[in-house]
Amino acid sequence: MSALSELNKEIALCQQCEIAKYRNRVVPGEGAEDADIMFIGEAPGWHEDQQGRPFVGPAGKYLDELLASISLRREQVYIANVIKCRPQGNRDPLPTEIQNCRQWLQRQIETIQPKMIVTLGRYSMAMYFPGKSISKIHGTAQKRDDVVYYAMYHPAAALHQQSLRQAIEEDMLKIPTLLTQAETIKEEPEPEQLSMF
Ligand code: URA
Repeated sequence: MSALSELNKEIALCQQCEIAKYRNRVVPGEGAEDADIMFIGEAPGWHEDQQGRPFVGPAGKYLDELLASISLRREQVYIANVIKCRPQGNRDPLPTEIQNCRQWLQRQIETIQPKMIVTLGRYSMAMYFPGKSISKIHGTAQKRDDVVYYAMYHPAAALHQQSLRQAIEEDMLKIPTLLTQAETIKEEPEPEQLSMF
């Protein structure tokens, strides 16, 4: 069994948070173990909780379209979330849930070793661009320790707000160039406070 499957099996047994009691399925993530790009969303919703797979509802269909716009399929990237269980009623993740789940995301990143981490929405952005505002930094990249971090709006937000749709579509189109020109992006120091949580 691959290192990632082993890890995802461990994640499936996690009972650290209260929400573990209410989940139907854990949603560790899915995609290529050797993906160059890792997308990190917020938390599973109803559809994801039913299927145990990330981004399979309406936001996921839109993410698939966005990937297709740069000639990628979801099998060629890795898609994960900040937290792996669905918060009841689709409420926002709690700081303790994000903190508890952080080790899993970190281990996924260490296993996959992506060249680029794309944050989808505020929650994953806050982990890698602490203190920043998404309306200011979406579509911009930072390189740290040879990894390009890139912030985008959440596909669900763009689905519901026409004004963000153009932004997310344009931001997605910048990814291939950022990836091929990653060598030329200047390294930046680690932010002082790596997370607001
Ligand atoms: N929204 C997310 O952030 N993640 C999913 O997996 C689905 C919807």
